[in-house]
Amino acid sequence: MKSRKWSLRILRLVPALALLTIVTAPARAQFPFQQQEPKGPWMDKTLSPDQRADLVIAQMTLDEKISLLHGGGWAELFALFAPAGTAPATRSLGNAGYIPGIPRLGTPDLQMADAAVGVTHGSVFGRYCTALPSGVLEASTWDLAMARAYGALIGRELRDQGYTMSLGGGVNLTREPRNGRIFEYKGEGPILAGKLVGAEMWALQEQGVIGDMKHYAMNDQENGRNYVNIKVDRRAMRESDLLAFEIGVKDSGVGAVMCSYNLVNGDYACENDYLLTTALKKDFGFQGFVVSDWGATHSVAKAAMAGLDMEMPGNDHFGEALKKAVESGKVPTSRLNDMVHRILRSEFAVGLFDHPPDRTAVDPVPGFEVAQRVAEEGTVLLKNSDHQLPLDASAIRSIAVIGSHADVGVLSGGGSAQVDAAGGSAESTPGSFAGFGDQVWHRSSPLKAIRTKVPNAKVEFNKGTDTAAAARLAQASDIAVVFVSQHTSEGADVPSLALPEKQGALVSAVAAANPHTIVVLETGGPVIMPWVDSVSAVLESWYPGIRGAQAIANILFGEVNHSGKLPLTFPKAEADLPRPELAHQPPGRPEDMKALFPGTPFKENTRQFDLDYDEGLKVGYKWYDAEGKTPLFAFGHGLSYTTYAYSDLKVTPGQSPAVSFTVKNTGARAGAETAQVCVPLPSAAGEPFRRLVAWEKVQLAPGEAKTVTAALDPHYLSIFNADRDAWELVPGDYQVHVGGSSRETPLHGTLAVGGN
Ligand code: BGC
Repeated sequence: MKSRKWSLRILRLVPALALLTIVTAPARAQFPFQQQEPKGPWMDKTLSPDQRADLVIAQMTLDEKISLLHGGGWAELFALFAPAGTAPATRSLGNAGYIPGIPRLGTPDLQMADAAVGVTHGSVFGRYCTALPSGVLEASTWDLAMARAYGALIGRELRDQGYTMSLGGGVNLTREPRNGRIFEYKGEGPILAGKLVGAEMWALQEQGVIGDMKHYAMNDQENGRNYVNIKVDRRAMRESDLLAFEIGVKDSGVGAVMCSYNLVNGDYACENDYLLTTALKKDFGFQGFVVSDWGATHSVAKAAMAGLDMEMPGNDHFGEALKKAVESGKVPTSRLNDMVHRILRSEFAVGLFDHPPDRTAVDPVPGFEVAQRVAEEGTVLLKNSDHQLPLDASAIRSIAVIGSHADVGVLSGGGSAQVDAAGGSAESTPGSFAGFGDQVWHRSSPLKAIRTKVPNAKVEFNKGTDTAAAARLAQASDIAVVFVSQHTSEGADVPSLALPEKQGALVSAVAAANPHTIVVLETGGPVIMPWVDSVSAVLESWYPGIRGAQAIANILFGEVNHSGKLPLTFPKAEADLPRPELAHQPPGRPEDMKALFPGTPFKENTRQFDLDYDEGLKVGYKWYDAEGKTPLFAFGHGLSYTTYAYSDLKVTPGQSPAVSFTVKNTGARAGAETAQVCVPLPSAAGEPFRRLVAWEKVQLAPGEAKTVTAALDPHYLSIFNADRDAWELVPGDYQVHVGGSSRETPLHGTLAVGGN
C-alpha cells in the first residue's frame, strides 16, 4: 500500500493550484469518450443484457477478453501528470481506476471514481463535486427515500464528469467501533444497512453508471487490513455482515462487488470460493462482476476459479499470467467467458452502451439541496435535558461558539472517500494540502450559520485550545455551543473512542462555567462521553457535508425537526466492547513479533495474524442485549422536538406475516418518527438478543395519529443453518416488540410461526 499512499499524495499536490471555485454555469467539454460508436447485433435493445453480452463475447479474441479483466496500473492512471508531450495516449480520466473499452467492438471505457460520500478528486478531474454528509449520517435517516436521493446525486455527478463506474457503496458492519472507515458505512444492523445500500445503489445505477458494493467481506477494521485473517463461523457471517451484502445485492441489482484486503477463514477475500462463488454468486444471485480492492489480488487460477472477475488497479495476475492460465487450461475458457460476460452484462444493464456519458460541469445547486436535506434529517439529538433545544432566538442575547474550527468549517472523513473541499480545506492539518488521511474541513461555517439565526445577539468564537479562556467566554454568555470532533480515515483505526486532543476536558470546563452547554459532535463513529451528565444537550452531526453548518443551525433553532436515529450503539466505555483492546497488526519480523506479542498467533514468514470474531452473531446492539450491558446511547435512539405515543399492536401470522400499530404525535410540532420492530427469536434459535427486522418512518402533524403496517420478511426472521448451508425458520412463538428505539419498545405481541 506504500505506492498507493504515495500516489494519492501526488494526486493531492498536483491540483493544489487549481483548487476549485464553484462553477455555476455548466460548460460543455468535448471529450473523445467513445472511440467508436458501438455497432453490432448487440445494439438491439430488445435483447436482454445477458443476450447482448454473449453476442459481444462471440466476436472477441482472447486478448480482447483479457484486456477487460484488469487495469493498466498506477503508471497509466498517473500518466495524466506526465510532462507535456510525454504522456502516453490514454482516455483515462485519471481517478481511481481505468479499463479501456475495445474500439473495434465499441465496448465502453470503465472510468472508475471513488464515490462513497460524493465523487472524489473533483478538484483534479472535474471542477466541483458535492461533499455529501457521511454514509453513517445517511444511515441515521433510516429513510430509503433519502438513500435514493444520496445515490442518485452521486450517480449524476459521476456521469456528468464522464465516469462510468462508482467505487462506493460501503456496507461493512460496525463490529469494531474504532474502525477508521465507519463514516463511509451504514452502521451495525445488517437489515438496515443492507436496505439502505440497496436503495442507494439502485438509484445510482438509474443514472446510467455501474454501482459497486464494498468491502466484501469482514473488513471491519483498518488496522492490519492487508494481513488480518478473520476467523468467524459461517452462521455468524451469513446472519451479520454477509446479510447486509445479500440484501443490498438483491434490492439493487448492483453491477459490481469489491472484495476486500483481509483473509477470511484462511483464504484472502479475493480468492475465497465460499464468499465469492457459494454465497455471493450462487446464493445471493449476484449477476455482476467481482472487482478486487486495489492491490488485493494474490493469485491467478485460485482467484479466478474462486470467483474474482477483475483485478484492479494493475495486471500482475489477470493480464499475461491469466492469458497463460487460460491457454494451459488451468482456467477454463468457460470461466474466462463468465468473467467477461459479467462485466459486459453490467455495462449493458445500466445503459453504458446505449447512453454513454456526455461530459459536462457539475451543477452544485442540486447537491447543496440533497446534502442539506440528508444532514437535517439524519442528525441525531442524543440528549436534551429540560428541553434545552430548540433555542429560542428571540430570548438569547449572547452565545459562545467554541472549538473544532467552527468559525470556518465542518470536518470530513479521510482516505479514498475524501471529497475535495470546494475552495480548499478551510483548516488543513498538517500543512495546506490534504494528503491521504489528512484532515479536511469543508467551508460551511457553523459560527456564521448561528449568527444568521440571532442577528441581534452577541455570538463570539473561541478556538477551544485554551480551556480557561473558553470557559470564561462560556460563563459570560447565555448559551455555550461546544463543537468537538474526531477525525477518522481509511488506513487506520482510531486508537480510542475518547475525543482526541483534550476535547473532553474542554467540554467539562465549559459545562462547569455555563449550565446551558450544548455539545455538537462531528465524529466518524461513536465516542465515549464521560462528561455527558454535565451538559444539557448533545447533537451528533457526524461529518455533515457541504451544508453541514446550515443544517446544524436550523436544528439548534428548531427551524427543522430532525428525525435521526442511531444506526449503531454508543458504548459507555471501551471495556464494554467485545474486544476492549483494539487488534493491531503485529509489526516487524515474525521473531520480533513473537517477543512483542507473546500471545499473538501468526504464520511464520508472513505478516498474517489471526483475529477471532468470537462475538459471532452478536454485532452491535445484539452484543449489548446478549451480555446484559447498558449502552450510553442505544441503537435506534434519537430524540425529537416532539413526542410520540404507540398503541394498538396487531400481529398477522401466515405466509406473509405483518404487524400494524398506531403512532400518535403527542407534541406541539410536526415530526417524523422511525418506528422500529424488534424480534427476539424462540429460544431454540440460540440467539439471546433481539433483531431489528422492520421499521417504518411516519410523518405526523401535531396531534395526528397514523396506523402503520410493516411486513415481517420471513428471511429476516430466519437463522442460517451452517450444516445444511441453508436458511430456516425456527418454529415457535416470536415476540414482537415495537417502539421508538431498540431499548424503548412499549408494544409487545406474539407471532406464531409453524416452520418451513
Ligand atoms: C480502498 C477502496 C477504494 C480503492 C480505490 C482502496 O484502498 O480500500 O475502498 O475504492 O482503494 O481508491
